[in-house]
Amino acid sequence: MKKAREYVVAVVGASGAVGEEIFRVLEECKFPVKKIVPLASERSVGKEIEFARKKYNILETTHEIFAKEGVEIAFFSAGGAVSAAYAESAAKAGAVVIDNTSHFRMEKDIPLVVPEVNPQDIAQWRKKGIISNPNCSTIQMVHILAPLHKAFGIKRVDVSTYQAASGAGKRGMEELVMQMQAFFAFKLDEVEAQVFPHRLALNVIPHIDVFMPNDYTKEEMKMINETHKIMHTNFAVSATCVRVPILRSHSESISIQFEQEVSVERARAVLADAPSVVLYDDPARHRYPMPSFVSETDQTYVGRIRADNFDKHILHLWCVADQIRVGAATNAVRIAIKWAQMQD
Ligand code: A2P
Repeated sequence: MKKAREYVVAVVGASGAVGEEIFRVLEECKFPVKKIVPLASERSVGKEIEFARKKYNILETTHEIFAKEGVEIAFFSAGGAVSAAYAESAAKAGAVVIDNTSHFRMEKDIPLVVPEVNPQDIAQWRKKGIISNPNCSTIQMVHILAPLHKAFGIKRVDVSTYQAASGAGKRGMEELVMQMQAFFAFKLDEVEAQVFPHRLALNVIPHIDVFMPNDYTKEEMKMINETHKIMHTNFAVSATCVRVPILRSHSESISIQFEQEVSVERARAVLADAPSVVLYDDPARHRYPMPSFVSETDQTYVGRIRADNFDKHILHLWCVADQIRVGAATNAVRIAIKWAQMQD
């Protein structure tokens, strides 16, 4: 029997929140790994990561390392500046780059992929050697929107997000924990926000990423523009993105206006069959998705599906997904799995 092909896999940002999760997801799904190449900044050189019960030294990210190590798949999760500096070197060395940052997402010749929605776009990877992983809030939203759009046609979407600290990486999570500790030590007034624009503990912040000239934040515009690119649509989308004092799962309240009248029952039937979606909608028994039990899972949970009181074309719903997994590491590994299937 032909032996399955195995790949040399690099993770740039190996010491970060998403990088560490990529190793876990690769291991859990038994991705065919020949060799792991963990990369980070020079600060992490000498530290180790564990993968499949073996220890690997973290190496410094350089332009030459990808060719030197024979990297075939390079996950980038070290921020936009690092992708801008090194992703093209990895691609030139022959690797497919799966980039978690926003750096290349809207570039014409770079596919932006959620495998449950637009797997066909992966085929364009050869143009630049790079596939972009979308924004975390966008991924979980299109898990819900794509099957509903296919079934009923969407005219307009209004979304408000409740985004966890993990979206700002390990430093964001540490800042929230530190602020909560300060609260219990009666020292909350003494903490200074560094990662977030204001104190996050006991607060919500309607400001993620920078403000744009149209008064939306960049995060909000990412949700709009990326949804259009992934779904190949241009229906109206409006977003309000809010940071909440939660460690690692994003929640979203979504209102959807359809081209036709859609009942709650029909929408439920579609979502019950949607890939990577769990319908968890039994309000009478207080069952609806929450970060407390959705964290560390690989599905987008949806509930609170209800009809608008005034317009039969509109439904409202609530979805929650683990930002580090569904919104980053798991989607990236799912892209790698589809890409590898195309190479066979
Ligand atoms: P390091 O730990 O060496 O700084 P997070 O998103 O959780 O904050 O993680 C960011 C990741 O990006 C870390 O692994 C970090 O490595 C890595 N990183 C930061 N700056 C660089 C850089 N200049 N080159 C390579 N990796 C970097």
